[in-house]
Amino acid sequence: MRIVLLGAPGSGKGTQAKKLMADKNIPQVSTGDMLREAVAEGTRFGLKAKSIMEAGNLVPDEVVLGIISERLDQPDAQDGFILDGFPRTTQQALDLEELLDQMGTPLNSAVLMDVDFDILMKRLTGRRTCSLTGKLLNVYFSSQEELDECTDAGGELIQREDDNEETIGNRLDVYRENTEPLIEFYRKRDKLVTINAEGSIDEVYERLVEAL
Ligand code: AP5
Ligand code: MG
Repeated sequence: MRIVLLGAPGSGKGTQAKKLMADKNIPQVSTGDMLREAVAEGTRFGLKAKSIMEAGNLVPDEVVLGIISERLDQPDAQDGFILDGFPRTTQQALDLEELLDQMGTPLNSAVLMDVDFDILMKRLTGRRTCSLTGKLLNVYFSSQEELDECTDAGGELIQREDDNEETIGNRLDVYRENTEPLIEFYRKRDKLVTINAEGSIDEVYERLVEAL
């Protein structure tokens, strides 16, 4: 299975990709996560990416393409992958198409996770990541048991630098302007599948699996 998860910030791409990865044993390839790792390592490139990401803007296409082509070359990606947060511009989508054509492994589908914009803000401002397990949680939507499970084990609930209202506003604008055109891009290629990504995490997952 080679798929793209397409959707606005907070639509649940990371949450659903992790569930699918555990279930189907194919890797989640998240450019956001890989870029955050580079930032944490504090390399010169990481420092450049840090200010772009904190402003909610996009890292240059050629940079993410380099990261993706290296990642898709790894042995664990040979039987499939879930792309999360890539492509995000028409140029990235064209580059991905070319890369996969060269590899002889075209994409199966691009799944659009459809969520009302009002819900996104709450999901993003409430998002926390458990420092111990990396589990995605939410102070508004996760159960108290789930949140306690992290803190009782000595973990911290970390908030992402770009999850403040101002940056979220810009990320949503950037999404509308640069990434939304990909809906048409994949529709024209007959690869687009849209799922309703509102409701509980399990309900959305059920719809995703059915759509695939
Ligand atoms: P990235 O990390 O990809 O962020 P994003 O696209 O803004 O998406 P998010 O990770 O915020 O949302 P998500 O859809 O994964 O939602 P999640 O599952 O976490 O990118 C960050 C930055 O990196 C970009 O701004 C850019 O600078 C750079 N970048 C990355 N890729 C790039 C690229 N290709 N090109 C250029 N630059 C790039 O869920 C959100 C919250 O909601 C969580 O708390 C979760 O618990 C909760 N939640 C999820 N589903 C539900 C549900 N059904 N019900 C209730 N709560 C839910
Ligand atoms: Mg994510």
